[in-house]
Amino acid sequence: MKIRVPATSANLGPGFDSCGIALSQYLSIEVLENAEEWKIIHSLGADIPSDKTNLLLQTALKLAPNLAPKVLKMTSDIPLARGLGSSSSVIVAGIELANRLGNLNLSQKEKLRIATEIEGHPDNVAPAICGDFVVASYVDGDVHYVKHHFPMCDVIAYVPDEHLLTTESRSVLPNTMPYKDAVKASSIANVMIAAILNGNLPLAGLMMEEDRWHEAYRRKLVPHLDQIRELGQKIGIYGAFLSGAGPTVLILTPEENTSQMVKALEKMPKSATINVLSIDQEGT
Ligand code: HSE
Repeated sequence: MKIRVPATSANLGPGFDSCGIALSQYLSIEVLENAEEWKIIHSLGADIPSDKTNLLLQTALKLAPNLAPKVLKMTSDIPLARGLGSSSSVIVAGIELANRLGNLNLSQKEKLRIATEIEGHPDNVAPAICGDFVVASYVDGDVHYVKHHFPMCDVIAYVPDEHLLTTESRSVLPNTMPYKDAVKASSIANVMIAAILNGNLPLAGLMMEEDRWHEAYRRKLVPHLDQIRELGQKIGIYGAFLSGAGPTVLILTPEENTSQMVKALEKMPKSATINVLSIDQEGT
């Protein structure tokens, strides 16, 4: 049995804690054999536990505590702690593992509610489960969500070498915001979503760069965001935004400008990996 969960990019700028897209990088889990003890075989680094303390098994065994132990193989090309949903992918894989091995028959909505309660917000786990573009909201113990086809474009991920933990990136956010500012921030998010639904990427991209919820506060942690936007303006991109809590920046481009943008990004002084990705439409 195999489970495959896509990477995700949350927020898309102003869709803070509610919007996300699934991307063509994956976490894969394979069930190899029965065993006396749970064991995860992986080569993701010494920091990633191979036993029941791994988030994958913590999640699965919380849902189905009586599962018989197995040997699992875990592989992933989702960069860790870079804002591409690596921990969400593990949570979603854990839920799916419990669902399949324990015959829980969870609906997509139930999986999304459980994943959101573990993660704290639905914007990574929703596209990881559903694929494509998802807008989701957790209200009074229930998740309401809409999946929609994301318009065709290239997606460039500029992934800096250094980590940025979500907790650190959330710690710079304010506790309150003036009412007028919140109304403005909400109107920008609404237009962005409507533009995506209409297939209007130039307008969606414009709104993605006008976020008022989080990027202004996080800018000091990610100075490369403004440099990338400047490059993008010269070359012609739809928009660039902080992927989730950063430090990765996602750049949406018309196909004909992708290689020029990649070349410009390669010349930036910061050490980073640049990946040209596409939208994953299937989810888990
Ligand atoms: N919406 C979340 C944030 C995504 O920006 O903090 C990262 O977990």
